[in-house]
Amino acid sequence: MVAADGANLREKAIQNGVDIYTFGGKLMNCGGYGQCGTCIVAIVEGLENLSAKTDFEQRCLKKKPENYRLACQTMVNGPISVQTKPK
Ligand code: FES
Repeated sequence: MVAADGANLREKAIQNGVDIYTFGGKLMNCGGYGQCGTCIVAIVEGLENLSAKTDFEQRCLKKKPENYRLACQTMVNGPISVQTKPK
């Protein structure tokens, strides 16, 4: 997936029909306010094109690999490739 400059990763995914939520996340996600942690994605390429992790991400993703992000908290500034619904 490739996203445009300065776009929010969650918005961009939804616009492009990319399904970022697991079943549970679809039923109850926080709507992009960085509160539920269900919009988690793994960045395969282009980590350097993303905004820095927010405080919420730091907390929520503490036990996850470095390349995991919350899509709604992430601004995209260049080409990236994303894996949705990482384990
Ligand atoms: S949509 Fe809830 S944390 Fe991203």
